[in-house]
Amino acid sequence: MKSDFLKYQAQTTPHPLNFEVDYAKGSYIYHKNGKKHLDFVAGVSACSLGHQHPRVKEAIRKQLDSYLHVMVYGEYAQEAPIALSKLLASLLPESLNSTYLVNSGTEAIDGAIKLARRVTGRSEIIAALDAYHGNSYGALSLMSKEERIAPFRPVIGGVSFIKFNCQKYLERITTSTAAVILETIQGGAGFIEPQHNFLKKVKERCQAVGALLILDEIQPGFGRTGKLFGFEHYQVVPDILVMGKGMGGGMPIGAFTASNEHMHLLSDNPKLGHITTFGGHPVIAAAALATLREITETSLIKDTLKKEQLFRKLLIHPLLIEIRGKGLMLAALTPSAAITTQVILRCQEEGLILFWLLFEERAIRITPPLTISEDEIREGCSILLKILNEIHESL
Ligand SMILES: Cc1ncc(COP(=O)(O)O)c(C=O)c1O
Repeated sequence: MKSDFLKYQAQTTPHPLNFEVDYAKGSYIYHKNGKKHLDFVAGVSACSLGHQHPRVKEAIRKQLDSYLHVMVYGEYAQEAPIALSKLLASLLPESLNSTYLVNSGTEAIDGAIKLARRVTGRSEIIAALDAYHGNSYGALSLMSKEERIAPFRPVIGGVSFIKFNCQKYLERITTSTAAVILETIQGGAGFIEPQHNFLKKVKERCQAVGALLILDEIQPGFGRTGKLFGFEHYQVVPDILVMGKGMGGGMPIGAFTASNEHMHLLSDNPKLGHITTFGGHPVIAAAALATLREITETSLIKDTLKKEQLFRKLLIHPLLIEIRGKGLMLAALTPSAAITTQVILRCQEEGLILFWLLFEERAIRITPPLTISEDEIREGCSILLKILNEIHESL
């Protein structure tokens, strides 16, 4: 498997983990060699209900027996995507009542940018330095890391940048701005929370100049930070909310939500303002609906904050200089990128799955399934502490 993976599947890095997956259940992924690995990453914040959650599987099975793909997005009325969009509307503030279902986070970001330009008739999009919104051309254009986009230029124009949490940049938002797009909690940059009412102030500035606020909740959304959506912590409501990852309970999905009035503009002048063949796919929508029901009908969201406290209590070590983040979106920072890499690779050998963040190289990603138990948290943290001790002694 290993050599065929390297030979036939396009690669993204020179040194992939090349973990040979046999099967996965609950909070564990089983290697082909029979070894059980505790999953502290959840497919990079995507497997919100762990692996093979029975409610998600049952919803998929039921839909499989009715129909798979029948028509491009937006033409036929199908139960699962309608119920999903309706349930979202009932859980969100009133102004966020119309959802466009797509295939991935990055497509949802592109849809949100298009919608903001269509609504305002303006072109400028303001993003944050060190943000990550995805890798399609629209989303890639919102990245400030020149080394990552230079080989792929030209990207889309009209994008400028502000610094997250820095209020002096707010005056850059003007009557030429179509939208400001921010991650509610910056992910790749190092799990950085908004401070001093930053999001609220951005929203006020947007309202003053007639620009829209787009919040990317692809990572913090769906319960990961102790609220259904991260923005609920910060007394702000976006004009466009973008979601993905944990929404699908392990299936590929993205979505952007806005007011009916705004969203209507994508169907008119020109009609078909955004087209997707598979967006709103009935099987994926059924999985997402089951996921959303499970998250909102149980204590999972509330428990996230208790689990965060347990992580913070257990993860005390001289090599951990800081624990950042909220709920089960946590990053443990070591003093250097080299130590972080050593920890991640050694933990994998010991049966604990950890991962990196995109831009903050000292960070160890801790984003387990929301369903992880306290015993499993203790089990994983003791492996992590054992490896940290080993590395500490060798320094
Ligand atoms: C905050 C954020 N936005 C957008 C994306 C892109 O989502 P996808 O990989 O589903 O296209 C990601 C993925 O890591 C993300 O974390």
